[in-house]
Amino acid sequence: MKKKDIIDIEIKDLEFPAKGIGFYEDKKVYVKNAVVGQVVRVCIQKVRKDHAEGKLMEVVKPSLVETKSFCSHFGRCGGCARQTLPYEEQLKIKENAVKKLLEEANIKGYEFLGIEKSPEVYEYRNKMEYSFGNEEKGGELNLGMHKKGKFYDVVTVDECKIVDEDFNKILKEILIYCRANEIPLYNNRSHEGYLRHLIVRKAKKTKEIIVNLITSTQMNLNLQELVEKIRKLSLKGHVVGFLHTLNDNLADAVVPDETKVIWGEDYFTEELLGLKFKISAFSFFQTNSLGAEKLYSMVLDFMEDAKDKVVFDLYCGTGTIGQIVAKKAKKVMGIELVEEAVQAANENAIMNNLKNCTFIAGDVFKKIDELKVKPDIIILDPPRVGVHPKALQKIIRYNSPEIVYVSCNPKTLAQNLIDLQEAGYQVKKVKCMDMFPHTPHCEVICLLQRAER
Ligand SMILES: C[S@@+](CC[C@H](N)C(=O)[O-])C[C@H]1O[C@@H](n2cnc3c(N)ncnc32)[C@H](O)[C@@H]1O
Repeated sequence: MKKKDIIDIEIKDLEFPAKGIGFYEDKKVYVKNAVVGQVVRVCIQKVRKDHAEGKLMEVVKPSLVETKSFCSHFGRCGGCARQTLPYEEQLKIKENAVKKLLEEANIKGYEFLGIEKSPEVYEYRNKMEYSFGNEEKGGELNLGMHKKGKFYDVVTVDECKIVDEDFNKILKEILIYCRANEIPLYNNRSHEGYLRHLIVRKAKKTKEIIVNLITSTQMNLNLQELVEKIRKLSLKGHVVGFLHTLNDNLADAVVPDETKVIWGEDYFTEELLGLKFKISAFSFFQTNSLGAEKLYSMVLDFMEDAKDKVVFDLYCGTGTIGQIVAKKAKKVMGIELVEEAVQAANENAIMNNLKNCTFIAGDVFKKIDELKVKPDIIILDPPRVGVHPKALQKIIRYNSPEIVYVSCNPKTLAQNLIDLQEAGYQVKKVKCMDMFPHTPHCEVICLLQRAER
C-alpha cells in the first residue's frame, strides 16, 4: 500500500470520536467518518509502519442498519456525519465508545448507567457559527459550513435540520443582502476582504435571538438596512440584538477584537430548570438547551446530598451548574476564564435571587489558590482539552470527598480519571448524555468519591 492508492475496505471498528478502522494487507487503516459495517472506497494519504490513514471517497456499500439521510446538504456539508444511522444505533455507538475508552484507561469498579437521549433529535441547536466562503475559488458567495473534508470551501446550509427555521431564514436573508450588495468575502489565504462569519444564537424557552456578523476592519459598512431586514423577518422567535464583531486575526476563527451593538442588546436570556440566564455574545452556553436541563438534572442526582455543603463549580461558564446546585447547597464558588461570562454569572445569580453564589474570573490553575473555603463537592466541567494536569493536582490537594466531572470529551476525561484514580479517588458512577445527535460527540458525567484511607 502506498500514498494515493485507492482501495475498498470494510470498516470493522471505531476509534472515538469518528475514526473508522478497516484492514488492508494486514495493516490497520483509519478512515474519518466511516461507520462500522460500511464498505468504503478510500484514498490513502499516509502510510506508517503500523497503520495507514485514508480519506473517505465513497460509501460502496452501506452498513446493514443505515437508512437514508434526512438533510439536503448531506454529503457536501461537513456536519451531521452520523445521520444515516437510526438514532438508537447512534446512541449505542456512543455508549460503547465511552465504555471502551474507560476500559482502555483501566477505569474499573463503577456503575455504568447507560446513555440518555437528547430531548430533541432535530432543531436542537441554540447556536450556529457559520462561515462566509465559496465552494470553489472565485465561485458565488456562500454562507454556511465548511465542505466535507475541505479546509477552505464553504457550502450554504439554508435547510439545516438541526436548527429551527429561524436560523435558516436569517442565514438566507443575510446571504441575499450580501450577494445583492456585492459585499466582498474575506479571503483566508490573502487575508483581504470583509465578510468572515455569522453567529446566530436563539434561546429555546424565551425564543430570544441575537445575530452577530463578524467581519474584518477593511471596510466601513452601514449595517442599518440589513438590521431592518432581519427585524422585519417573520420568525417564530424575536431578534433582541444585532451585533457587529470586528476580527482581523489571521486564523479562520472568530477572535473578537471589538464587538459593537448595532441594534438592541448584546445578550439574550435563556431559562433552564426554572432559572434565568443572561448569555453574552461570546459566553459559553450548552448548545442544546433542553439537553442541558437533562444534563444538569443528572449532576444534581449524582450529588446525592448537597445540603449544607460547599460546592466548587470549576470552569463554570455563565454559572449554570453552580446556580442549579445552589438551591440545595450552602455555598457555591465558581471559576471561569472568560470575564464577561463571570460578570453574567454574578448578574444571573442576583436575577435568580441566589445569595450563596460567587463567581470569579481567571484560570482555574491560578484562581483556585484564592479560594479560602474547603469544598465538600467539586464540579468539573472543563473544555474539550480536559483539566490541565497541573490544575488537576491542585484540585486533588483540596481533598474534596466528592467530585462530579462533566465532560464533553471522553478521551480527555479518561486521561484525567487515571490521575484522579491514582490520587485515591474511585469512579462510582458514569452516565452518558447525548447532547449532539447525528454527530460523534457525547457528554459524560462521572461521580468520584475519595476512597476511605
Ligand atoms: C464546557 S464549558 C462549561 C461551562 C459551564 N459549566 C456550562 O455548563 O455552561 C468550559 C468552560 O471552561 C472555560 N475555561 C476554559 N479554560 C479555562 C481555564 N483554564 N480556567 C477557567 N475556565 C476555563 C471556558 O471558557 C468555558 O466557559
